[in-house]
Amino acid sequence: MERRRFGRTELRVPVVGLGTWQTFDVGPEREGRARDVVEAVWLDGTRFFDSSPMYGRAEGVLGRALGQRREAAWVATKIWTSSLGEARSQFAHQLEFFGGRIDLEQVHNLVRWREHLDWMEEERDAGRIGFLGATHYGSSAFGELEEVMRTGRIDAIQVPYNPLERDAERRILPLAAELDLGVIAMRPLGGGSLIRRFDAAELLKWTLADMRVHVAIPATSSVAHARANAKAGEPPWPADEKRRRVVDLARR
Ligand SMILES: NC(=O)c1ccc[n+]([C@@H]2O[C@H](COP(=O)([O-])OP(=O)(O)OC[C@H]3O[C@@H](n4cnc5c(N)ncnc54)[C@H](OP(=O)(O)O)[C@@H]3O)[C@@H](O)[C@H]2O)c1
Repeated sequence: MERRRFGRTELRVPVVGLGTWQTFDVGPEREGRARDVVEAVWLDGTRFFDSSPMYGRAEGVLGRALGQRREAAWVATKIWTSSLGEARSQFAHQLEFFGGRIDLEQVHNLVRWREHLDWMEEERDAGRIGFLGATHYGSSAFGELEEVMRTGRIDAIQVPYNPLERDAERRILPLAAELDLGVIAMRPLGGGSLIRRFDAAELLKWTLADMRVHVAIPATSSVAHARANAKAGEPPWPADEKRRRVVDLARR
């Protein structure tokens, strides 16, 4: 799988990661399948895993599914609360789930980002967090996301990017490239809505053809889908003309 240097870090991250929203919020009876999904993508080279306290049981399920692989994985998770006390509690749970360290800690949906970055910077300086990031799913918040990016306090952003959600192209991706920030593409399959008309690999390649993106994080509860997604992380990448045709088709 292709690896890209993740923003200004020295890390080279395989371009297809794994999201965990909904798919990893499962009870013990379905945890085996989540473990199989992790095993499948791991064998195909995936090392980047995204989660959040917002995703119910997903962080715990991911931590257990990674097991011994944790040390070699890149765990990106989030803090999602307006309460600083609750944030501490979310972080304490994450340290338990993920072996005492979070590789990329993101402020989820920009909730109280200034205050969270204060304590997250201390945790980074203490070595319990590797890098800091911020995420938002909605283009109406992109002005505020730009503000965070320009503070110089974060190393990475996470935004939606697929043939029907391209708002990031206007200002966020150019600014991320200018500031040399890591870029994570969430919802690369449009939350599954684009799958009816396109092959998942075609969609992932559409997103990854934009070299300002470092990793796309499709979510799946299926081992077969997981394998197909991981395989899409190999070049060749579609040229501009082909990407435009996909956008035209998606809009119909
Ligand atoms: N920070 C934020 O605000 C935010 C918001 C949204 C998402 N995210 C992150 O981004 C990740 C991805 O976004 P998402 O989960 O919303 O949507 P997505 O990855 O675009 O789509 C997931 C859907 O696609 C289906 N799918 C996956 N691979 C497939 C394949 N090869 N063939 C057919 N169907 C396939 C899955 O169903 P099956 O289970 O049947 O495969 C699932 O229903 C999330 O899990 C989360 O980690 C972050």
